[in-house]
Amino acid sequence: MSEPKIVTVPKPEILILEFGSQHTGEIVRCLRDLGHSSFVLKPEEAERWLEHNDVRCIIGSGGMKSVYDDDAPLLPEIILDKRVPYFGICYGMQILIHYLGGRVEKGQPEYARANVVTSDSPLFLGLGVRQEVWMSHADSVTFLPSGFRAIATSAETGHIAGIAHKNGKWSGVQFHPEVERTPGGMVMLKNLVENVARCKPNIERGLSLEAIRGQFVAEVGAECAIIGFSGGVDSTTLAKVADEYMGDRLRAITIDGGHLREGEIDEIKRHAQTAGVQLKIIDASEEMVAAIAKTTDSEAKRAIFSRIYERIFTEQAREFAGGREVVILQATLAPDRIESGKTGGAKIKSHHNVGLTFGGLSQLHPFGSLYKDEVRKLARELGLPKSVSNRPPFPGPGNFLRVVGITVTREALSVVQWAEARTREVLKRSRVYRDISQLVVATLGRATGVKGDAPVYGYIIAVRGVRTRDFMTVAGVEFSQQMQRKLKKLLGEHPLITQVGFFPMDKPPGTTEFE
Ligand code: XMP
Repeated sequence: MSEPKIVTVPKPEILILEFGSQHTGEIVRCLRDLGHSSFVLKPEEAERWLEHNDVRCIIGSGGMKSVYDDDAPLLPEIILDKRVPYFGICYGMQILIHYLGGRVEKGQPEYARANVVTSDSPLFLGLGVRQEVWMSHADSVTFLPSGFRAIATSAETGHIAGIAHKNGKWSGVQFHPEVERTPGGMVMLKNLVENVARCKPNIERGLSLEAIRGQFVAEVGAECAIIGFSGGVDSTTLAKVADEYMGDRLRAITIDGGHLREGEIDEIKRHAQTAGVQLKIIDASEEMVAAIAKTTDSEAKRAIFSRIYERIFTEQAREFAGGREVVILQATLAPDRIESGKTGGAKIKSHHNVGLTFGGLSQLHPFGSLYKDEVRKLARELGLPKSVSNRPPFPGPGNFLRVVGITVTREALSVVQWAEARTREVLKRSRVYRDISQLVVATLGRATGVKGDAPVYGYIIAVRGVRTRDFMTVAGVEFSQQMQRKLKKLLGEHPLITQVGFFPMDKPPGTTEFE
C-alpha cells in the first residue's frame, strides 16, 4: 500500500442551513461529487457565524416542520442582507416566502415522484422543460411576494414548484434536487453553485480511497481495534482498510443472535477471509431471542438488540486489548446516523450501532458521512470481490425486524429464514435479483389457512424488493404476475405459510424494511 496522504480541506464556500431534513447530507454529498466543499450550520449558528464571515452561496435545506409551527426553525435574517445567493429547498423555500410576506398553505401533501414544467432560469440550464422530480411535502407556496416569479410548476397539479426573485439572489424549489430520484438534480445544483454563485470546484470530486486511508490513519490512534463485522459491504470494506494499517492488531467480531439469513455465517466467514481479518463469531442466540421475545414493538426490539450488542462488544474489546489501548470500529454510514435522528432531522428509526457508549471505550465511525454507493466504489477500488461490493444490505437486527407485529419466536424466525432463502433463489435464477438493491422477506403476522383439508394457523409472508443507490429514497419493485404466482406457489408449500403478499411501496412514504 502507498503512504497514506493527509488531505487538507480548503475553506468551504457553500453554507447549508440545517432546517431539520433527512436529506441535508445528500446536499453535502452532491456538492462533494461536483468538487465543492460545504458545511452545515443550524439557523441560529449561521446567524452568528455570518456576522463575521462570508460564503459564496447559502442553501436552505428541507425540514419536517410547517412554517406555522411554534417551534419552526427561523430564517436567519442576516442572509437577506448578504449579497450572496440563497437557494431554499422545500421548507428552505417556504420559510423564505413566508418571511417575505407570501403565502404558504397547509394541505395537498405530496410524497411521490412528480413532473414539473420549468421556465427560463439559470437553474435549469441544460435541462429539458419537463423534469421528473421527487416531492415530499405537506405545505405548499400559493402566493408569491412582490419581485418573485414561479420558475417551475407541477405538471399534475399546477402548484408552484420553483421560485426566483428578480434580484437574481433568492430562489428555491419545492422538490428535492439533492435526492437520487430527481435525475436532473445534480445539474440544477451545479448550475446554482457554479453559474449563479460562481463557486469554483475546490476539492477532489467524490470520494478518494487515499483520503479515506489517510483519515483512518490520522484518527485511529489506539494500539488495537475490534470491528463489528456483518460481512456486508460496509464492514468488509472498513475491515480491509483497517487491516492494511493494523494487521493482527485488528479483530473482527460477529454476533450470531439467531437473527441471520440462511447461509449467512458461511458468507461472513468468506468475506472476513477476503478482507484478511481474523474473525470471532459469538453465539448469543439464546440470550437474544429470549430478550427480543419480550416485546413486539420495533424500537423496543432495536433497543434490546443494541444493549446486548454493546455489552458483548465492550467485553470482547477489553478481552482482545488485554490492557492495550483499544478502539471499536463501526461501519456506520450516513443514512444510519441521519435516520437515527443524530444529524438534525427527525428520528425515523434507531440503528443498532448508533449512539452507543461501549462502556466509555473509544469508538470510530470512519464511514459516518458516506452513502452506500460510495462504499461500494471503495470496495471495488480495494479489489474486493463482487460478492462484497454488490452485496444487498441486511439490517443489523436482521430477522428480528422481519417478524412484524407478533412475538419473535424460533419458529417465526425459521419460517422467515426459509421464505427469504427460497425467494432469493427464485429471483436469482430469473435474474430479477440483479435489479434489486435490497430484498425484504418478512412475516406480518398470523393467518388461518387450510392444508390437506386441515386448518393451519400459519404465517403471512410479505415479499418486498427495492431499487436504490443510496437508500435515502427507494423505488419499490413491481414483480411480474408470473413471478408473483411462482413465489406464492413455492412459499405456500411450507407447512406454516398460509398467505403471501407483495409490497412495492416507495420510500418515502414507506421505508426499506417494515420496521
Ligand atoms: P430503512 O428501512 O430505514 O433502511 O429504509 C435503510 C437501510 O438501513 C438498513 N437498516 C439498518 N441497518 N441497523 C442496521 O445496521 C438497523 O437497525 C437498521 N435498520 C435499517 C436497512 O436494511 C436498509 O438497508
